[in-house]
Amino acid sequence: MAEDLTIIEGNKVEIYQSLIPQIKALIDGEPDLVANLANIAAALKEQFGWFWVGFYLVKNDELVLGPFQGPVACTRIRKGRGVCGASWAQAATLIVPDVEKFPGHIACSSLSRSEIVVPVMVYNEVAGVLDVDSELLDLFDETDKKYLEEIVSFIKI
Ligand code: SME
Repeated sequence: MAEDLTIIEGNKVEIYQSLIPQIKALIDGEPDLVANLANIAAALKEQFGWFWVGFYLVKNDELVLGPFQGPVACTRIRKGRGVCGASWAQAATLIVPDVEKFPGHIACSSLSRSEIVVPVMVYNEVAGVLDVDSELLDLFDETDKKYLEEIVSFIKI
């Protein structure tokens, strides 16, 4: 397993195409969920420099904060609440170009301006979400959706 990440410059597609095999190599053969989520969050943060990137896991009908990189964040989110809870309720990726325009957005940090939340699916159920926040407006698009969905599909819970 490679413990060094090769960081590249390029367009978003090139970056994801370089990063995805490295993430796969990091988690392949490792059964520990926390270790794998921690390394995925670290790899995404290191390559993209996003403000906040991490996981919430469904526990007793709430999302509970899991491994992440970035400033401290809200610990628990109920179903349907905020972008994370809405992504869970809809079992769908949500791209929010301007968090101030998302009704019920939970502001863990006032610096966050745009956000993407990708559900982690296990047997057709949402087991958690990957949440990424940026200080820039309108940072995330369909390319992020496509590749982040591919990355979370590697997660075995
Ligand atoms: N903004 C999220 C809450 C989680 S933090 O951004 C890390 C939301 O509205 O669900």
